[in-house]
Amino acid sequence: MTSHLIYPSTNLNAIEQLEIVGGEGIYVVDSNGKQYIEGLSGLWCTGLGYGNEELVETAARAMKQASFSHLFAGKFHRPAVELAEKLHELMPVNNASVFFGNSGSDGNDTLVKLINYYADATGQPQRRKIIARERSYHGITVAAASLTGLPANQKHFGLPVDALGILRTHAPHYYRGQQGSESEDQFVDRILADLEAQILSEGPETIAAFIAEPITGASGVIVAPESYYPKLTALLKKYGIWFWSDEVITGFGRTGNVFGCTTMGAPEPDLMTTAKQLTSAYFPLSAVAVRGDIHAAMLEQCGQVGIFGHGYTYSGHSTACAVGLKTLEIYQRDGIYQNAAERGVKLQAELAKFADHPMVGEVRGKGLIAAVEVVANKETRAEFAGGDGANRVLKHAQDNGLLLRNTGGSALAFCPPMIITDEQIDDIIDKFGDALDKSFAELTAEGLIDRDHAQEALPA
Ligand SMILES: Cc1ncc(COP(=O)(O)O)c(C=O)c1O
Repeated sequence: MTSHLIYPSTNLNAIEQLEIVGGEGIYVVDSNGKQYIEGLSGLWCTGLGYGNEELVETAARAMKQASFSHLFAGKFHRPAVELAEKLHELMPVNNASVFFGNSGSDGNDTLVKLINYYADATGQPQRRKIIARERSYHGITVAAASLTGLPANQKHFGLPVDALGILRTHAPHYYRGQQGSESEDQFVDRILADLEAQILSEGPETIAAFIAEPITGASGVIVAPESYYPKLTALLKKYGIWFWSDEVITGFGRTGNVFGCTTMGAPEPDLMTTAKQLTSAYFPLSAVAVRGDIHAAMLEQCGQVGIFGHGYTYSGHSTACAVGLKTLEIYQRDGIYQNAAERGVKLQAELAKFADHPMVGEVRGKGLIAAVEVVANKETRAEFAGGDGANRVLKHAQDNGLLLRNTGGSALAFCPPMIITDEQIDDIIDKFGDALDKSFAELTAEGLIDRDHAQEALPA
């Protein structure tokens, strides 16, 4: 089928493979009537699953009351004010002030601009640089894509990475970053020593913030070793560098706590980005937070210019904010955060049983986000060429009625709606296990499982 639609994040030569026409609970249905477990909550976003009547009614009511209401030039409406208050209460950002947008990407662009705004406001124009990690995903607008550490999101797009002062440091990915027989702690010490050297060579006074996803999502669900965040906290504190927690995936319960930075023991954020599960994806909405004193500095700056010259038409769209408020109410009222924590323990324990499978390199995750990394050679950790192994499992899982995602080339990601039950987790595990076994049998028959070069390709 040819199309005049340019598809996002898709191989433009392989479009239109699965038409989704409906959904209920954790399931979606395709145009042939086949049902699938949405094992990735759409794009890590449908925390409350599909067909939630309360959210649909909330949106309809808000639209009927005022189909559009904005926040420019002194106009305001209750849903935005109340949602900002609710987020102020929930977010572990000191005296948080909140700005609304429409997506995780535009939220990150907003914060890049606010870092610059603050630098000017406080008479330290040099303090604009931002350290971002390899293998990170922060979105695809111009500044957000510059923060993102994935080649496919950067190549050929002419991004102003240097002009924005974006620096790159290691991902805390022990499985892929370990050198020789280095222990987890030695790995952490090495990558943080490199970070400190970079801070010193750039000049600590030029660096404003360090951005991180507490658990990296889109590039393979990377969970940092335990000692990473405590040591990172000390390092950032030593040089007065802000911690910017990108909670677009990890926010609102996904990791078993309201925010992923809490689960991971990450530094208390000075800046935070949220989106996705904020409305359970029933309406586009992002909310970024800055510390109260950063907001105060902005007030002064704005006084000189006469206006805070940043805002989207849909910043604080009344329907989006009403849906966001209702979503947060449901999460708390129905014990969704607790369900994510409890079901998360089961999901992790069940997936961990695949660690011995001959095609599984590593199983990792926290709460209801996880990845199973498939490898052609368990000893050398060699990946299948062209992501073939993970794509094979993906296809068999889909045939079995389970939708997953291949992230980072070889990691099958799990991120089911947070309303999931134990029985539904068992179903995921059965469908996935069968897909893994079928893929292994096929790849073995095709000679693509590499059992012969274990020693020579061990990490140097
Ligand atoms: C951590 C993180 N930040 C930002 C984004 C970008 O969000 P959006 O796709 O809503 O622009 C994403 C999207 O997956 C994300 O995972």
